[in-house]
Amino acid sequence: MTQDIVDLGDPGFQADPHPVYARWRRTGPVRRAVLPSGLNAWVITRYEDARRALTDPRLSKRAYPMGSGEAAGGSRTAGAAPAADMAPGIGAAISKHMLAVDPPDHTRLRRLVSAAFTGRRIEALRPRIEQIATELLDDLDGRERADLIDAFAFPLPIQVICELLGVPAEDRDDFREWSNAVVAGSQAGPKLAPALEAMVKYIHDLLAERRARPGDDLLSGLIQVRDAEDRLTEDELSSMVFLLLVAGHETTVNLIGNGTYLLLRDRAEWDRLRADRGLLPGAIEEFLRYEGPVETATFRIATEDVAIGDVTIPAGDPVVVSLLSANRDSDQYPDADELRLDRPNPHHLAFGHGIHYCLGAPLARLEAQIAFTALLDRHPDLRLDVPAEDLRWRPGLLLRGLDGLPVRL
Ligand code: HEM
Repeated sequence: MTQDIVDLGDPGFQADPHPVYARWRRTGPVRRAVLPSGLNAWVITRYEDARRALTDPRLSKRAYPMGSGEAAGGSRTAGAAPAADMAPGIGAAISKHMLAVDPPDHTRLRRLVSAAFTGRRIEALRPRIEQIATELLDDLDGRERADLIDAFAFPLPIQVICELLGVPAEDRDDFREWSNAVVAGSQAGPKLAPALEAMVKYIHDLLAERRARPGDDLLSGLIQVRDAEDRLTEDELSSMVFLLLVAGHETTVNLIGNGTYLLLRDRAEWDRLRADRGLLPGAIEEFLRYEGPVETATFRIATEDVAIGDVTIPAGDPVVVSLLSANRDSDQYPDADELRLDRPNPHHLAFGHGIHYCLGAPLARLEAQIAFTALLDRHPDLRLDVPAEDLRWRPGLLLRGLDGLPVRL
């Protein structure tokens, strides 16, 4: 098969990838593409292929051969390019986490924290999350305008994940800057290496502080498992904290941001949800399907030749699964490009699939439910403060989220 090699770092593509993905789904099961880092990869775009790929053990998280350009730690986490100028040791301190490894390491690392993320444990956080949402909206009292991302969608999940881990949330502005750079990956340019280094220092300081003064929190629990039981290495410990901090908030920011945008670009949807709150759980699933927070799953590497339809991906090649594209596949969803708040259970892939299925899905759903309920209650007249066409999507191949969401309250 001959195809043009498409550039996934192209700003035009990233601003509006849906029509491009739709064309690719029609023309073949996989696409040859250049990642923003310059590496070539195969992109899987159809729902059935994506679902199968995410459970295929031949598509491994095993590190790329060194020198391939994508092996450095957090950059791989972020699904983007490495910072070649990173200080030594930084890569290992953030890359030895469950999302970057195969079984049996994956099984061991995931088990260490999975009990903290069950539906029941997460439901117990409801009153505290409601309180955080209320306080954030209290801060907006008396204002007519705000950027809903800055004022609400960003601080809510960061505060929740910090409390869950047992870390202070006061450094969250620094944290936002670093994690913006980390998720933009190679597209953050020269900001990436310093951001990764600053995050690693932050995590090391947190661990030192909690070692000195253990508490009854997840971080102290993980330190105990490391120091007393030797069930994970120091790099695995810092990488776990890195993963939970990054995965636990940037994504949820986008669920709240993208969902609010979808409701406000056509206020009939907002009014419909306001009139029938029973639609909310299904509406959240539809936001996840229609404009999911994660554009592409993190990279896999083919460990053997893998046939997808009539194309063979050779062993050793990187593979990218586009969740955004799979979730708009019209072979899977009738009128896939229509937002339908009452769409029957869409079984979307927004949280991934298989062994790496999102550990935080119950938490993300609960946070979203609380966030939308609070917004509908407190700001029934909420509307966009700029034309929807003026909103900008943040660059980056990993996440799909708005740069800002100016609203009238
Ligand atoms: C994994 C999406 C929120 C923690 C994943 C994956 C996706 C995803 C697609 C799999 C990636 C892959 O296979 O390459 C989302 C979305 C969220 C969200 C859309 C919000 C709407 C959270 C939250 C946490 C979290 C709140 C909390 C800590 C994780 C972890 C993994 C993961 C630890 C790795 C699981 C593993 O490798 O076994 N997430 N996530 N996520 N997510 Fe989330």
